Amino acid sequence: MDQKKNKKIYIETYGCQMNFSDSEIVASVLTDQGYTTTGEIHHADIIFVNTCSIRDNAEQRVKKRLQYFHAFKKKNPGLIIGLLGCMADRLKTVLLEEEQLLDIVAGPDAYRDLPRLLEQVESGQRGVNTLLSMEETYADIMPVRLGSNGVSAFISIMRGCENYCSYCVVPSTRGKERSRDAGSIIRESRDLYEQGYREVTLLGQNVNSYQWIEGDNVLSFAGLLGRVAEVSPMLRIRFATSHPKDISDKLLDTIAAFPNICRAIHLPLQSGSTRILDRMNRNYSRENYMERVEAIRRILTGCTITTDIITGFCDETEEDHRETLSLMEWVNFDYAFMFKYSERPMTLAADTMEDNVPEEVKERRLREVIDLQQKLSYQSNQRDCNQVCEVLIEGDSKRSADYFMGRNSRNKVVVFQKTNAASGEYINVRITSFTSATLLGEVVHELKIR
Ligand code: 5AD
Ligand code: SF4
Repeated sequence: MDQKKNKKIYIETYGCQMNFSDSEIVASVLTDQGYTTTGEIHHADIIFVNTCSIRDNAEQRVKKRLQYFHAFKKKNPGLIIGLLGCMADRLKTVLLEEEQLLDIVAGPDAYRDLPRLLEQVESGQRGVNTLLSMEETYADIMPVRLGSNGVSAFISIMRGCENYCSYCVVPSTRGKERSRDAGSIIRESRDLYEQGYREVTLLGQNVNSYQWIEGDNVLSFAGLLGRVAEVSPMLRIRFATSHPKDISDKLLDTIAAFPNICRAIHLPLQSGSTRILDRMNRNYSRENYMERVEAIRRILTGCTITTDIITGFCDETEEDHRETLSLMEWVNFDYAFMFKYSERPMTLAADTMEDNVPEEVKERRLREVIDLQQKLSYQSNQRDCNQVCEVLIEGDSKRSADYFMGRNSRNKVVVFQKTNAASGEYINVRITSFTSATLLGEVVHELKIR
């Protein structure tokens, strides 16, 4: 028997949805070679940490974790430890050579090479590949769904980013933007549907610039979205992330045309000040952003809009900060991810601007942004009360097996008392109350609307 068959891999993932999707590609590449995956670290022969570089604290967390694994390895000689993802290229020398924490380092485009790198380690060497590629999209790899609820799945549709927002490390860690073969995306969606999945999330750093050329045909993101939505009216489609500079009316019209494309748009704002947006190289102004929000409200009634905000970017004044707060109120965001600026190496901001907003000011502004968003999110949930919405059931609620949890089209988590419905089914729920993160409701006459 192939010895690999006995080797178990444990993958720990940090960062964005894209990284979670990549871990499923890693699992697929290795299970094809006879390895198996385990969710139990104590059973593992190989530990992979799939890492994120977006902010300094994400990197610090991973470094601490690697120290822990290193100590673990001392008690378990023969254990192989590998670092994957965005930190790979940046930190390979320090972690591999100086701190001797790792056996393998593989960047986001090197996952097909993992079997070879593992063999290299077996023969007593280290395995390193952090080359970025112009073509790799892993189009032909059917991901192994890790920790799946059997209802919703991620599908990666493009890789890399060339927007070069001045604060962002992603263009340097994930390389050039490339779109994945449309046929393979549609096939993967159909396979998932046939396996019982009822929701797919199409992933890319900037999905609006998706483009697939076949002969004379150019398929845009709007076109792709329509093709995936046609797989079945019972399959829900979500996508992330949209860049405000190019979320087109054509895309919004496509969403409007398909009830199964979810009414939820994540549209990172970053700052409400045009001056700061310019410095961030975002390619839109405060007014452009407002115009796009008006288009969403006009074309997609009731669509939730969520966002990302950074406080304390280089040169941000109190006035700039107040513009962020006032724009947040104007848009009335349903939810937001909020961060203080963290300078990253190899970015335009690190090279050409001064990280000159004091830490305590960044923190205070972040607090103000969070407080405001809590108020807006509360009001958003309040508006949902007494409304009936269609919920796709994802499984038991975390708190109690007597309750189901699922989400509505607007991406809000809904919890309600169990009925004889099952995971993967759609059901109508009337919202009766809410907590900060969850809507609570009751099933309406056991009426399934699909
Ligand atoms: N500092 C703080 N937040 C950042 N983000 C990206 N880079 C940085 C940084 N250097 C945030 C942005 C982005 C989200 C994924 O992370 O808001 O939209
Ligand atoms: Fe980073 Fe901007 Fe690309 Fe998003 S769009 S990954 S923030 S460079």
